[in-house]
Amino acid sequence: MQTLCTAAQLRTCLAPVRRAGQSIGLVPTMGCFHQGHLALMREARRQEGVVVVSLFVNPTQFGPQDDLARYPRDPEGDARAAAGVGVDVLFTPSEQEMYGPADSTWVTVTGTLVEGLCGPHRPGHFRGVATVVCKLFGLVQPDRAYFGEKDYQQLQVIRHMTADLKLPIEIVPVPTVREADGLAMSSRNAYLDPQERAAAPILYRALQAARQAVEHRERMGRGIVARASEIIAQEPRLKLQYLELVDADTLAPLPRLDRPGVLAVAAYLGTTRLIDNIRLDPGKKSE
Ligand code: PAJ
Repeated sequence: MQTLCTAAQLRTCLAPVRRAGQSIGLVPTMGCFHQGHLALMREARRQEGVVVVSLFVNPTQFGPQDDLARYPRDPEGDARAAAGVGVDVLFTPSEQEMYGPADSTWVTVTGTLVEGLCGPHRPGHFRGVATVVCKLFGLVQPDRAYFGEKDYQQLQVIRHMTADLKLPIEIVPVPTVREADGLAMSSRNAYLDPQERAAAPILYRALQAARQAVEHRERMGRGIVARASEIIAQEPRLKLQYLELVDADTLAPLPRLDRPGVLAVAAYLGTTRLIDNIRLDPGKKSE
């Protein structure tokens, strides 16, 4: 595995790959790899000639109250883990490499994609994500890029941005990787104290209870959300930020599950913010 830090190094490395007709897959990350990140890299390894993983803790997607300063970092462990799953290139640019002092371009996705869920709670977050991912797409020019369903709103923002800007890149979604007790893997889980860690899986249990309600023919958004809320209310440590049923494509609110939906949740456990989501399908029309 090669570790590269500059756009120039990346160009020199990838030009012959492209000339040889090998496919390039990109896995954008902020590091501190866990099994969720590694699942993206393995999927890329399965599909691509050359796998590029970017590791950049992108300051523009963190708000002033966010955890940029304490965001976990483990550069040596990350390099070992990436090499272990067969990554070819680890791209670790500096902030100066990604953002020049004269930069004046931002990528802003608008409408229902960012109006609900995390959008109102994290102003500017998706602008930072879309901008850095667009820059990474320009630098790497991958055939495909891999994103986790764990961050479902991010996945949809990137899918729509890529389509709207006519970027010739396929976005590959990868299912959420979970701990044995159901907790979605996240770099932020490391912040949880033992009691908070024990309480955390209730989020996924709540989402599963909502799915069961759908299997028992509940179709009203309010009923589906109420089923998950009941479960979350059982854990007083959890401070719910949102619990919303949205259209799986546009993320517009879905009052009735008459098309594929996603039930998404964000909650605080102490000072740690956790998110999760589950896909809900209405099933056959005749039911
Ligand atoms: P980061 O949080 O490091 O996540 C990198 C990728 O790993 C994202 O696509 C995310 O959805 C995926 N991922 C995280 N946890 C996962 C899990 N439990 N199962 C499956 N996939 C998981 O997301 C970002 O970084 C940044 O916003 C980024 C896209 C790199 C832009 O800065």
